[in-house]
Amino acid sequence: MNKKEFDNFFKPYSKNVDNASKHGFWKLSDSLITQIIKDNIPVDINEETVILDAGGGTGRWVCDLSKVYKSRFIIYDLSNHMLKKAMRNIKNADIENRVQFIEGDLKNMERIEPNSVDYIISIYSPISFIYKKEKAFSEMYRVLKKGGKIIIMGHGFYNAIFSKINNFCTEAGVLDVLDKEKMVKWGERVPKLNVFSKEILEDDLQKAGFAPDKTYGIPIFVQPGPEDFDSENIKKSKISSALEKKDFFNEVFKLEMKYNSQPTVANRGMNMFAVAIKN
Ligand SMILES: C[S@@+](CC[C@H](N)C(=O)[O-])C[C@H]1O[C@@H](n2cnc3c(N)ncnc32)[C@H](O)[C@@H]1O
Repeated sequence: MNKKEFDNFFKPYSKNVDNASKHGFWKLSDSLITQIIKDNIPVDINEETVILDAGGGTGRWVCDLSKVYKSRFIIYDLSNHMLKKAMRNIKNADIENRVQFIEGDLKNMERIEPNSVDYIISIYSPISFIYKKEKAFSEMYRVLKKGGKIIIMGHGFYNAIFSKINNFCTEAGVLDVLDKEKMVKWGERVPKLNVFSKEILEDDLQKAGFAPDKTYGIPIFVQPGPEDFDSENIKKSKISSALEKKDFFNEVFKLEMKYNSQPTVANRGMNMFAVAIKN
């Protein structure tokens, strides 16, 4: 993807992304991600521990996780529009002394020493935007310490097929290309994105040297409505409204967490979220 296409997408995206989680579908999705991070990174890590947020965008995950963990954080991102917003968010959260910002490409993280990071998180699929994805996987392997853990998300392959058939009745030729290339184009202004099955994501991690541990689908049962992709977060889908009912939200959350890492179910995920270790 060239810089113009990249900036054209992420400049407007940076303005609205922090409000997305006010709607039920994204609130649920964010809650599932938070739970999985807490299940995989112990809450008692100390002030010396380094968590790298790879493609950390506006820093919203670092702001939230800084309330759970005492650690230090690196927000690494290629978009200066996203990072500018991140700097404001981190300042407002009053955690500037714990956060380093690096503007750069995940395919070449030369500003980060080898074996220097304890955990890597990568949420809402930065890897889907990277066309030479194996370079990014091997850079993430290089910077992680031995025994360190990566928790990384990519757009779901099977869900992309499901959605293109059922929500868009996409023409046959486009479906064939999606299947062959493992890349999806959601709209005129959205770049073509890598999509991942559990098997593809685990295979990519393995090729870089990681030992895959577990892969979750996020979410597996709940399907967003078209309104959940409203870039201004004004429209609200039926499912987002329904999820405002606390008991419904809690039950759906419980069912998602019960089944989302079952190997026969994970591939239903709109996103795939894999945990792997550097042994
Ligand atoms: C969908 S956003 C997710 C942002 C953040 N992780 C979140 O959950 O809010 C994807 C992020 O990946 C970043 N990104 C895409 N390609 C990248 C690359 N090659 N190197 C570094 N960051 C990249 C984008 O700038 C953007 O901030």
